[in-house]
Amino acid sequence: MFPTKIGSLHLENFIYNAAGVWDTTTDQCNDLNNQKHCAAVITKTCTIRPQAGNKYPKYHFTDQYSINSNGLENNGLDYYIDLYKPNSKPLFISIGGTSDKERITMINMVVERLGNAVAIELNLSCPNLGCPGAAYDPQTLQQALDKLFSNVNVSDITFGLKLPPYYLLRDFEAISTILSHYHNQIDFITCVNSIPNGLDFDVDNGLPVISPNDGYGGLGGPSILPVGLSNVRHFSKLFKENCIDIDIVGCGGISSGSDVYKYLLAGAKAVQIGSQLWKEGPMVFERVSKEFHLVVSRKGIT
Ligand code: DHB
Repeated sequence: MFPTKIGSLHLENFIYNAAGVWDTTTDQCNDLNNQKHCAAVITKTCTIRPQAGNKYPKYHFTDQYSINSNGLENNGLDYYIDLYKPNSKPLFISIGGTSDKERITMINMVVERLGNAVAIELNLSCPNLGCPGAAYDPQTLQQALDKLFSNVNVSDITFGLKLPPYYLLRDFEAISTILSHYHNQIDFITCVNSIPNGLDFDVDNGLPVISPNDGYGGLGGPSILPVGLSNVRHFSKLFKENCIDIDIVGCGGISSGSDVYKYLLAGAKAVQIGSQLWKEGPMVFERVSKEFHLVVSRKGIT
């Protein structure tokens, strides 16, 4: 096991699930909690009230990539707050919400009910909703964070943001500057969410491989590893150069222990597994952890 810290939260190992994978129901979250090599449990991104989500087929997997348009199927915030049990693994509640008001209400509910017993990952990057998440452009992010931090107090709780992938240096710089204004509230960022608006067709029937949203969905899986690594490394460098004390959790395309090692090289302090967990189930954490141990022991790293 390789312990790590995200903000002031101690994790006994540094690999856990990505929000939205194996974490919608209590049974799934218990599966993760019972998996020795899974360091924490993060819930499905939720809304205040339960939502049915999009119609099936809404997931598609190949060896190279996944495409999904779940549509925020979730059991509502109360359900995920009730998952908390003392003495179990660290629990991250992934907060969605499509307006400033909904986000503020949800965060205040978590803080009032559980205080710093749980952590929050605020998802500002869902690609599958009518209105894209607030973090897709710097100006909207700035406005959302200004509003948020005038109305919530998260200084006692481990608090982070799930960000979309960025591609241009000017965006990394702009986002990093905005985050620097809130380094007292933001303990970590998770990079990256899936790449929006992927599309593929089924050659047999001529239809898109998923049915919601005219076939468009978030891309994940091995193909997006270079995008995730690049985002982690860009932010890591900018944070170092500008003395911004925000940890980075790597996410996107991990399917092996070497992928995990690459995220550490890029500057991540912990990593999340999404698509591969979907394909392989919770045993993925043991396999990938063992592979990671082999990689570092071959290199003589302890
Ligand atoms: C959904 C997809 C995401 O990538 C995300 O971050 C949140 C929600 C979804 O479609 O449910």
